[in-house]
Amino acid sequence: MADMEAIAREGTNAMPKDSISKTAQVNLNMLTFLGVPEAVAFSKALQLEGNPLVALQALPFAHQLPLCISCISEVLYESANQLILEANNPTILDVACGYSPRVLKMAPRGYTYIGADLPDVIGDLTARRRDILPADEEWIAGYRTVNAADEEQMRNVLGGLREPITVVTQALLPYLSLEEKTIMASSIRELLQRDGGCWIIPDADPDSLMRDTFRAVLGKVATSIVRSVKAIHSKAVGRNRSKMSWRNVNEIEEALANLGFSVRRVPLYREGMELNCLKFAGEEAADKLRTCWQQKNSLVVTAE
Ligand SMILES: C[S@@+](CC[C@H](N)C(=O)[O-])C[C@H]1O[C@@H](n2cnc3c(N)ncnc32)[C@H](O)[C@@H]1O
Repeated sequence: MADMEAIAREGTNAMPKDSISKTAQVNLNMLTFLGVPEAVAFSKALQLEGNPLVALQALPFAHQLPLCISCISEVLYESANQLILEANNPTILDVACGYSPRVLKMAPRGYTYIGADLPDVIGDLTARRRDILPADEEWIAGYRTVNAADEEQMRNVLGGLREPITVVTQALLPYLSLEEKTIMASSIRELLQRDGGCWIIPDADPDSLMRDTFRAVLGKVATSIVRSVKAIHSKAVGRNRSKMSWRNVNEIEEALANLGFSVRRVPLYREGMELNCLKFAGEEAADKLRTCWQQKNSLVVTAE
C-alpha cells in the first residue's frame, strides 16, 4: 500500500502546463526521426511545431542525443506493440497516449483504440482527428480527456465498452507522484477485474534503461551526459526523478503485488524485433544495445 510519508515527500503532480505537450511530443518526434512509417504519417497529420529537444542543444555530444533518445523511444514503443499483439484483447486503452502513433498501427488491425491524456494533448488530437484517422476507414478509435490520477475519470474512460482490454502506460510513471500512481493502478485493477485483460508497462527500468542505452551509443562520456539530461528533464517537468518511487522493476513489481496484481516480466528486447534505430546506431553499438535491452524488462500485469 502507499507509504504516506513517501507521498508527502513527493507532493502532487507539479508538471507545468506547457511542459506536458513537449514531453508528449518527444516520442513522436523520435519515431519520426527514425522513419517509423506510422509516426511519419501521424506527424504529417498532426502538424506539431517546435523541437522538444531544444533544451539539450548546449550539451556535449548534442548531435548524438537524438539517436540515444530515439533508441529508447523505439524499443519501448515496439516492445509495447509486440505485447499488445500477443495479448490480443479487442480494446486498447493507451493511458497518457501523448501523440503516440500507436493508433495507426493498431486500429487498421481491427483493435478498438482509445487514447487518453490530459486536456492540452487531447485538444490537439481531437482538433486534427479527421487528418489522423481517415473518415473512410472503418477503424474504431477515439481520444478521451482523462487525468490518470482521477478515480472517477478512469472508471468512466471506456464509456459503455465491455470487452477485454489491454491497458498501456508508456513513459507515464515518472510523471506521477506515489499517490497518483497508486490511484491509477487501483483504477486499472478495477477495469481489469470488470472486463478482463492486462496492463502493459514497457518502461519498468526507466533509469537503468537510459543510462545503459546512452552508454552503448556514447561510451564512457555517457554518465555525465545522462546526469545533465536528467537535470534538464526534472527542471522542465517540475519533478526530481531521483526522489521518485517505483524507480526500478523490483520496486514496481513489489508495489503492484501489494496492490493485488500478478506481474510477469518479459525482456524488453526479444529476437526478431525490427528496430530502425539499430541501423542508425552502427553494428558495434547495435550489439551492445540488444544485449543491454535483453536484460531490461517490460511488465505484463493482470488482476485476476
Ligand atoms: C513522455 S509523454 C509519453 C506519451 C506517450 N505515452 C508516448 O510514449 O509517446 C508523457 C505523457 O503523460 C501525460 N500525462 C502526464 N500526467 C498525466 C496524468 N495525470 N493523466 C494523464 N496523462 C498524463 C502527458 O500529457 C504526456 O502526454
